[in-house]
Amino acid sequence: MKKAILAVSFGTSHADTLEKTIGAIEADLAAAFPDRQLFRAFTSGMIVKKLNRRDGLAIRTVSQALEALAGEGYEDVVLQSTHVINGEEWDKLRAQAAPFAGRFHRLSFGMPLLTGIEDYRAVTEALLSRLPGPEPGTAIVFMGHGSEHPANAVYATLEYMFHDLGRRDIRVGTVEGYPGFEEVSRRLQEAGDVKRVLCYPLMVVAGDHAKNDLAGEEPDSWRSRLEAQGYEVRCILEGLGEIPEIRAIFVDHAQGAVEEENHG
Ligand code: CO
Repeated sequence: MKKAILAVSFGTSHADTLEKTIGAIEADLAAAFPDRQLFRAFTSGMIVKKLNRRDGLAIRTVSQALEALAGEGYEDVVLQSTHVINGEEWDKLRAQAAPFAGRFHRLSFGMPLLTGIEDYRAVTEALLSRLPGPEPGTAIVFMGHGSEHPANAVYATLEYMFHDLGRRDIRVGTVEGYPGFEEVSRRLQEAGDVKRVLCYPLMVVAGDHAKNDLAGEEPDSWRSRLEAQGYEVRCILEGLGEIPEIRAIFVDHAQGAVEEENHG
């Protein structure tokens, strides 16, 4: 039986970080499942179009990739999401895949990064292993994407867990949802003694949002706004996909999808 694993990412038009993040996750998936051929798809139609227009790159959407795999005779396909939350892009992935259910012998789904509570434990552990220890006067801020999707509750839950683990110096905010910059900034002030802020993207790829909305020189970036409030700010632009322990969680989720299908 021809088997495939389709790594499905939001996508990025920043070629410099693509291979370090999405490419690295794909490489780990390929290594973990040597019996499956690895393929790439992006859920962002805008990025697929941009890469095509600008670089002549033909990245497939989920529908295009599944159509191609069915055409090439693959019978067992695992779709592994590399998204952070079970949000809009995950819904889109499922919706695009749904019509193909009958075209394969088995079609199964590996969950996004933050799904079950054990994922929160694994993600906080992975991040804590990379972060400097708590230091008086220093706070750590993560910028997630955020949206109006119900799964957006992920971000506040993640901060809650950091605090439970004794890291009350960590704040998690989002660029497009709640909690946003205002909430993060207020909570830094409430801490009383914060002078320095270390900022990290909570996104698989350190792309546009990380480079511009978080660390950009423009006056409305988080960096500029925090500096205007008197903090000394340092931004560390590492995408989650660059962290081996985070990639291992995606591999684990793909393993879950493989095992689930074997019971089915
Ligand atoms: Co965005």
